[in-house]
Amino acid sequence: MPVRIEDFELERFFARYEFAVRHVLCASDVEGWAMADLLALADPETAALWHGLRLGYTEAPGHPLLRAEIATLYESIASDEVLVFSGAEEAIFAAANVLLGPGDHAIVVWPSYQSLHAIARAAGADVTLHELRAADGWAIDVELLRRQVTPRTKLIVVNVPHNPTGALPDAGTYRAVAEIAADAGATLLSDEVYRFLEFDPLDRLPAGADVGPQGVSVGVMSKSFALAGLRIGWLATHDARLLDAAARFKDYTTICASAPAEILSLVALRARDAVLARSRSIVEANMALLDGFFARRPEQFAWVRPRGGSIGFPELRAGVPIDRFADDLISAEGVLLVPGSIFGHAGNHFRLGFGRTDLPAALAGLEAFADRTLDRSG
Ligand SMILES: Cc1ncc(COP(=O)(O)O)c(C=O)c1O
Repeated sequence: MPVRIEDFELERFFARYEFAVRHVLCASDVEGWAMADLLALADPETAALWHGLRLGYTEAPGHPLLRAEIATLYESIASDEVLVFSGAEEAIFAAANVLLGPGDHAIVVWPSYQSLHAIARAAGADVTLHELRAADGWAIDVELLRRQVTPRTKLIVVNVPHNPTGALPDAGTYRAVAEIAADAGATLLSDEVYRFLEFDPLDRLPAGADVGPQGVSVGVMSKSFALAGLRIGWLATHDARLLDAAARFKDYTTICASAPAEILSLVALRARDAVLARSRSIVEANMALLDGFFARRPEQFAWVRPRGGSIGFPELRAGVPIDRFADDLISAEGVLLVPGSIFGHAGNHFRLGFGRTDLPAALAGLEAFADRTLDRSG
């Protein structure tokens, strides 16, 4: 049966604008590393792997050293419980396809990264969206989630920290979600691509892969590790059947990951303290500027301040539709925001990214445009 899947609205939007504007003030990744700076972090073993690299096919489950290094990001995961993919995108595609089919039911937080619900639907499952609301601080509603479970529920999908809001549940809520999945006999797919970018490290949640046999973590080099161009992601889980099925599925997508990308990922993960410190310092500096921006303009913009990650989902309040505002902002200042409509969200919200080093210039463009066009009284 051919794959029939709805357009990925965010990717279509980026295909149109991302490389045509001056400033992308809505990117979800952190400013990518320069190749030379990354290689300067290599230890003798990874430097030798890099210089001696042969560009053949790689081991389908991932380079053994890379899988071992990824496993150390978790409390209880062994290297053979890690399966490497070409991006988190491929990992999600494989997981949803092997876990779900017609007659199955999935619950997915929403608004969210479209793959998390669209692929489940394309696999034939019925999808219930678990709506997060600004008025609740974008929190997961545990009681609602419990009521959304049906006897056919096979999969519950969360994303912590969350795209597009930057929300992060407290540990009690996350534990309750894991218990609901366990009680339902469902897999908990925990998209953790922004993990390690919690603003307060004490807020870091246990990884999905560590909460129990039903837990699956999705990870990637693109966001917290600031290496989106490597296109390396993974699934980590104790669920051997899922890993086996996903490995068989991957034989039909990419077979194995890119050889240079695997070694560069290994370099970065071994130097993760330096890599994450750089990401955190970019995000912290940008958040300080954003705090000033939102404090100066409470009548025009409001947001639930993110608790982690590199994105948030503010609301434009000044009586102007966000789609028109975002369009005019591109023409006037060359600054790109993602209107909430791209997520199918009806509110007047937009995604704001704060992982890029040109944020000061991008924000100055937004502020100048807001000064010229928005009423101060809201
Ligand atoms: C929540 C979430 N999951 C998965 C991905 C996919 O990551 P990648 O494009 O690096 O594969 C993204 C990218 O924006 C994301 O925000």
